[in-house]
Amino acid sequence: MGIVETEEIKRNVILYLWEEIRGLLKGIPVSSPEDVVSLIEKGGELGKRVRSSLSEDFVEDSTSFFRDPEAFAAYVNIGLPYLESIKREGKILSVGCSTGEEAYSVAIANLQKGYGNFRVDGIDVSERRIGKAQKGEYGILESGLGLDGKLTQGFFNPKFLLEVEVKPEVRRHVNFFAHDILNAPTEEQYDVVFCLHLFDHLSEKGRTVALENILGSMAGESYLIFHTLVPGFTVPSQMFQLEQKRYFDGLKVKGLERLATPNKAVAFKYHK
Ligand SMILES: C[S@@+](CC[C@H](N)C(=O)[O-])C[C@H]1O[C@@H](n2cnc3c(N)ncnc32)[C@H](O)[C@@H]1O
Repeated sequence: MGIVETEEIKRNVILYLWEEIRGLLKGIPVSSPEDVVSLIEKGGELGKRVRSSLSEDFVEDSTSFFRDPEAFAAYVNIGLPYLESIKREGKILSVGCSTGEEAYSVAIANLQKGYGNFRVDGIDVSERRIGKAQKGEYGILESGLGLDGKLTQGFFNPKFLLEVEVKPEVRRHVNFFAHDILNAPTEEQYDVVFCLHLFDHLSEKGRTVALENILGSMAGESYLIFHTLVPGFTVPSQMFQLEQKRYFDGLKVKGLERLATPNKAVAFKYHK
């Protein structure tokens, strides 16, 4: 794809997104994306309303159980052996956990490997998504569980027709709370952090702030599992992939060491 075509696609995507935003902010006096940014930056009641409306209804929430096999493989090869070696409760964070499938998947991956001394905390800016995550109830078709349940057998109770709920023995390891990673690091510090498909939504400035706060949420020695591609959306995916590649290739952060992974996942070791 040539540069010109990429620029044109970008312009069209931006136009399309702007129409969507205008629809969501009906009744609020904004005539350009810059107006929206300035309202949010000013804060106040209106700024908060705009931010909350965009977080709940505009930022994409797509997720599923074991969504990125590469990221989970990197976790099982790199993160899990480290957790098993630390001889205390392992603390894992899922940043931008959406409706909870990722955090429960991490717990299931641990239990499948016989590792039980751990806790997973899932955080998301959207209170509505956190509420759904806390319920732990899923439709097996839309949550990626599939009808054969190969990945997750034994970890769900049937609920109603094609619905299941996460079993208590998984749920007792998992907590969820609303938190905006652009605002601050978490109060606790974690041994392994999953950050999957969060940076897809952030600007360059947002990524810098989010990364700073993610590092602030990590323990003195810890691991970061990253994945950002968007399979299935061919055109935007190519743009994302290019941007991610540029981003990670140029990323030089003190204490953050990129690890070799056997697949496309990106994993880092972090020393404070
Ligand atoms: C596409 S979903 C990815 C979910 C999951 N990590 C996955 O890969 O399947 C992105 C999630 O990031 C959340 N998010 C976006 N900005 C955030 C922020 N500043 N702080 C916390 N969560 C955020 C969104 O609400 C959304 O649920």
